[in-house]
Amino acid sequence: MVRSIEIPRPDDWHVHLRDDAMLASVVAFTASRFRYAMVMPNLVAPVTSVVAALAYRDRIVSLAPTGFDFRPLMTLYCSAALDTADLRHGVESGAVKAVKYYPAGATTNSEAGGAAMADFMDVFEVVADLGIRLLVHAESTDPAVDVFDREAVFLERELAPLCEAIPELHVTVEHVSTAAGVEFVSAHPRVAASVTPHHLARERSDLLADGMRPDLYCKPIINSRADQEALIAAVTSGDAAFFLGTDSAPHPTTDKYGPRAKAGVFNAAYGLEVVAEVFHRAGCLDALGAFVSSNGSAIYGVEPSTERLRLERQDVPRSSAVMTLATATGAEVVHFGTEEAVFWTVNPV
Ligand code: DOR
Ligand code: ZN
Repeated sequence: MVRSIEIPRPDDWHVHLRDDAMLASVVAFTASRFRYAMVMPNLVAPVTSVVAALAYRDRIVSLAPTGFDFRPLMTLYCSAALDTADLRHGVESGAVKAVKYYPAGATTNSEAGGAAMADFMDVFEVVADLGIRLLVHAESTDPAVDVFDREAVFLERELAPLCEAIPELHVTVEHVSTAAGVEFVSAHPRVAASVTPHHLARERSDLLADGMRPDLYCKPIINSRADQEALIAAVTSGDAAFFLGTDSAPHPTTDKYGPRAKAGVFNAAYGLEVVAEVFHRAGCLDALGAFVSSNGSAIYGVEPSTERLRLERQDVPRSSAVMTLATATGAEVVHFGTEEAVFWTVNPV
């Protein structure tokens, strides 16, 4: 049996495109499928200025395949180097769409981030004044906090006080990963959340129980089955505060399969199929378009795309999907979602 659904061409509201040879290899996956892409600024030299953001945007556009309605949106990294006058100019000129806050040390290339949100109140006041969103990596870096509790603790200790101090601030909790995160969003009218394919489709036993799986290691860590179920319930309900941000984050296998795996899941190629499979299994395929197309566009103040994609699911899987990608400099990156991708075909209408 074939099941089919049409959706507006989706947007990816959280993606790591990297730079140089990796950018050249991965950008086509995002550009060929997604319209807007909210591009994360955690390059090795973090993107903290409008000049750097525009130069990075040029590199992305020059390496992206032509013929697609692909629109990268640039973010600035909230760090000591961020200048609020530059931010203001970047937003007013249309070069910058959002500011990203990383707790220092929480994840890949987060060293330039903050020790505490309270240290950046001047930046957040400007963000609120400009009417853009503050994108937050919500994880406590307190070493006393268990890795599976870090999102909940950060929300309580850092984001709740900030929302109280600047009630007009619009916040996106990025890659929300827990039931506590879902509750936090529901309790705060100006807070929304991006949700990744991997946090929807896997739980921590997939990561740890049957051989440790570095390809599923990411930050925030994939959490419990109860947390996964809370995420699935939130996104399939059609709740307008939840939308797709893939957090596609490629790392070479040499950085993944070693004594210290880097955090990040590369899902740009099959993330949409993974999400479709989650909605299909929940019996809620009709709600897919809200999650991947219209909720995020409403949150970020744009119309959904007028282009459409048709997704078809076959009960009999294709025999295989491409498992890895090779960059021009010889790095190999493992695709996430091949197990789901074999059930789906995706085509423009
Ligand atoms: O797993 C992750 N990888 N989480 C992040 O927040 C950053 C990302 C990366 O850049 O690799
Ligand atoms: Zn990310």
